Amino acid sequence: MTDHKAKLTIGPNKPAIDLNILDGTLGPSVIDVTGLQKQGYFTYDPGFMSTAACESKITYIDGDKGVLLYRGYPIEQLAEQSDFLEVCYLLLNGELPTAAQKNQFNKTINNHTLAHEQIRSFFNGFRRDAHPMAVMVGVVGALAAFYHDSLDINNPEHRTTAAFRLIAKMPTLAAMCYKYSIGQPFMYPQNHMGYAENFLNMMFSTPAEKTSPNPVLTRAMDRIFTLHADHEQNASTSTVRLAGSTGANPFACISAGIAALWGPAHGGANEAALNMLREIGSEDRIDHFIKRAKDPNDNFRLMGFGHRVYKNYDPRAKVMRTTCHEVLDEVGLHDSPLFRIALKLEKIALEDDYFIQKKLYPNVDFYSGITLSALGIPPAMFTVIFAIARTVGWISHWNEMISSPDYRIGRPRQLYTGPTERNFVPIDDRK
Ligand code: SDX
Repeated sequence: MTDHKAKLTIGPNKPAIDLNILDGTLGPSVIDVTGLQKQGYFTYDPGFMSTAACESKITYIDGDKGVLLYRGYPIEQLAEQSDFLEVCYLLLNGELPTAAQKNQFNKTINNHTLAHEQIRSFFNGFRRDAHPMAVMVGVVGALAAFYHDSLDINNPEHRTTAAFRLIAKMPTLAAMCYKYSIGQPFMYPQNHMGYAENFLNMMFSTPAEKTSPNPVLTRAMDRIFTLHADHEQNASTSTVRLAGSTGANPFACISAGIAALWGPAHGGANEAALNMLREIGSEDRIDHFIKRAKDPNDNFRLMGFGHRVYKNYDPRAKVMRTTCHEVLDEVGLHDSPLFRIALKLEKIALEDDYFIQKKLYPNVDFYSGITLSALGIPPAMFTVIFAIARTVGWISHWNEMISSPDYRIGRPRQLYTGPTERNFVPIDDRK
């Protein structure tokens, strides 16, 4: 990083404060305010709209140009030419694997796909209609109770083993959530299958009947994983980093990330987008919902539209849209009412002044919800699938932070506007 200076002038009788400006390889420079608290000031930035919370080499986003790079590689090229496990290797290690490295990595992940048999009994404690994200928060966090040999966060080998276990076991645990919710027996992973194929098999096969996942749908599932693998310092990744900064074990940190992802403003948007399309129900009701979305007194928002960073098209949405069409063609749902509503909603929103001025474009969640529905996956499982994919991003950021020599516990401060100091009033004296 190169640096140059900024001068902060607070007031006529106060000395200006020199602040370093640091330049990265891409994107905005940052003003280093680490020393400001010693001068008696905090910065104020609720929502972190203007805050770089860390330095990272993993993912770069340009919201105005609609650019998303994983370790420098454009998401469009990775989605088209790579596969999810190769992207996992890239995010974890910083470089694309050689053929031998890729083969070894896939084998290693496959060695960790089974969940400890006793984890199966966890599920019996949940109601069958429990939201699968509630189950995943619980079960993933509980992995720390089983894998004591990968909890020492200062041991690089423990960190690597924990990363492999989490990437490998998320599909197994996710499929167990689904099977439990429909009262079917759990399916074991089949290590001769690819990552996405294995997941779809665990979701839709039964001991009584093996389904051979359709290659077009399997490729679409793998691409959905790639598109959702990482996204810089989003809310759930920032949650994982903050949890990790306390020294919490990786399973607890990923469980915290799953909890944060669940929100409808974040990873829960794909489920919310599909439920919204179902609520709209017919094309002639779209205008009513667009009006509601534009009404400042109505907190209804068009789920699957808008983004904190992308004020241009979400590059993932372009790829997701193509994948969505491929899947709908393959399963013969292109003329489904739901998709017709989605297409019309997309068209109206892209032409509506409100959405154009506020730069609200369809994001990845708008199309992933429809695609996952066409794959036969119930809406409650959509965010679980997002969590499967984002686990590699979360654990890569966690590892980047823990392996950097100067990381410290995250502890933001505040602008206090509460009561000034006052004395306690005994209850008999209170009015
Ligand atoms: C993800 O951060 C990431 O990287 C996240 C993610 C990832 O991969 O990790 O990309 C995944 O979370 C994608 C986003 C999924 N969320 C949704 O689709 C939910 C619907 N979208 C909104 O809730 C909203 O757009 C956010 C939360 C995504 C972004 O919110 P911001 O950046 O805080 O923007 P904002 O709420 O300040 O909105 C700006 C204006 C507001 O109007 P004004 O107050 O200026 O008058 O746009 C309006 C909002 O009311 N607005 C919308 C809208 N989104 C914003 N109006 C109608 N419908 C919407 N969807």
